[in-house]
Formats: sequence, C-alpha cells, structure tokens
Amino acid sequence: MSSDKPVNMCACMNKTFAQLKELGGLKAAMALGAGRECCGCLPYLKLVFKTGETEFAVEDPRIDMKDLCRD
Ligand code: FES
Repeated sequence: MSSDKPVNMCACMNKTFAQLKELGGLKAAMALGAGRECCGCLPYLKLVFKTGETEFAVEDPRIDMKDLCRD
C-alpha cells in the first residue's frame, strides 16, 4: 500500500479492493455486503470497477460525494 493512497479496502468486510475486484463487478461485491454496511467505501468501490485501480487517496477528486451514505 502506498502512503499517499491509503484507501484500499472495505473495512466492514475486511476485504481489500483487490479481492473485491476479483468478483468482477460492483453488483457482485455489494451482494457480499461491500459498500452496504457503512457505505464509506462505496464511492471508492465504484472507482475500482470503473478504473481498475485498487488504492486511492482519501480525497481522490474523482470521488462523487453523492455516493456517500446518508442517514
Ligand atoms: S467500509 Fe465498506 S461497507 Fe463499510
């Protein structure tokens, strides 16, 4: 993990984005619970399947804030 890109996993599931990427798609990852427990990883997870990258900066400018969960 590079220090400038510390976001690399769904902490709720304890699965790395690299592991989730192997599932082949966002739907499959979410079916296992990724991005659904706290939603914190969801915007990053969307980038995983859009770009193929598995590590991100916390404030990645590509993050769509509307993807963050709301209570
Ligand atoms: S970090 Fe992925 S659902 Fe909480």
